[in-house]
Amino acid sequence: MDLLEKKIYIAGHKGMVGSAIWRHLQARGADNLIGSYSNDLDLRDQQSVSDFFERERPDIVINAAAKVGGILANDSFPFEFLMDNLRIQNNLINSSLDQNVERFLFLGSSCVYPKKADQPIKEEYLLTGPLEETNESYAIAKIAGIRACEAIFKNKKKMYTSIMPSNLYGAFDNFDLNSSHVLPAMIRKFHDSKINGNQPVKLWGTGSPLREFLYVDDLADAAIFILDKNSHHPLINVGTGHDIEINKLAKMVQSVVGHEGEIFWDTNKPDGTHRKVMDISKITGMGWEPKVSLIQGITQTYKWYLQNINSLKMVNMYI
Ligand SMILES: NC(=O)c1ccc[n+]([C@@H]2O[C@H](COP(=O)([O-])OP(=O)(O)OC[C@H]3O[C@@H](n4cnc5c(N)ncnc54)[C@H](OP(=O)(O)O)[C@@H]3O)[C@@H](O)[C@H]2O)c1
Repeated sequence: MDLLEKKIYIAGHKGMVGSAIWRHLQARGADNLIGSYSNDLDLRDQQSVSDFFERERPDIVINAAAKVGGILANDSFPFEFLMDNLRIQNNLINSSLDQNVERFLFLGSSCVYPKKADQPIKEEYLLTGPLEETNESYAIAKIAGIRACEAIFKNKKKMYTSIMPSNLYGAFDNFDLNSSHVLPAMIRKFHDSKINGNQPVKLWGTGSPLREFLYVDDLADAAIFILDKNSHHPLINVGTGHDIEINKLAKMVQSVVGHEGEIFWDTNKPDGTHRKVMDISKITGMGWEPKVSLIQGITQTYKWYLQNINSLKMVNMYI
């Protein structure tokens, strides 16, 4: 299969992950890429998605569209995180089957694994224990998507596969403090405090949890790598395989941003799972490895943030 000659639909192509995959495919010469805007095509709407597939007939579908958010957003809107994501992925998977799409890539997340999973987390730990409560609805939707793709992979012999990225960050990340993940939230808080005279920065939790972070361009590279292979694995972790304490991450972001004030930890806010680092031996065994170090990635992301800060401020609400 020559991937670059195929008609590839990237659902969520304006999001952080979708846009990175789009850029990487384009850079490699793919010129039959299609996307859709949420204003024109609400992927929760079954009939509209079905009509879109009937019209476009893609060969390959990448599902990078989802309702995504940090702990606060997940905790506040569990129904939406469950139902919107189920609806989006069900519509995309069913329409792909109806139109005989050859290959489907589903974007999962490391939060699908049990809260107390052994570390590093292997793919086979899925559904071996209770989930982290703060994002359970989102994780349940993702697990349904993974199981649907696995069933198609096994029973219908079609390459419908899932990748489980660790925490992602990079260009087009969400810097809205109502819904952002930890790393972009830190960039925004340190930056805003710096320009306000290096005021102290308050961060969530104790700072003691350990997390793994993958630069979104590395994820895009891995997604294309997997699409290009005839993988025998329906579910593949993608990360760096290394974790970092949140308080060390905070110091790293603080130094990249150049903030010189104090850091306070708001211990009334939840920490989430204590440690989450993925076993990436499946994908490294296939010949892929991440290329961008954490400090390089944070530096690039802050650069992007500075270049785009004015347009971001128009759509983001600061709290
Ligand atoms: N960010 C992370 O740290 C991370 C980590 C692991 C896995 N992932 C997975 O990667 C995927 C993409 O995440 P992301 O970080 O790129 O999120 P994102 O930047 O928020 O992008 C999500 C995209 O989905 C689109 N979308 C959402 N609801 C839609 C709807 N009802 N109809 C049409 N389009 C809709 C959004 O369009 P609009 O903006 O126009 O609504 C946006 O383009 C998700 O499946 C997520 O679970 C992300």
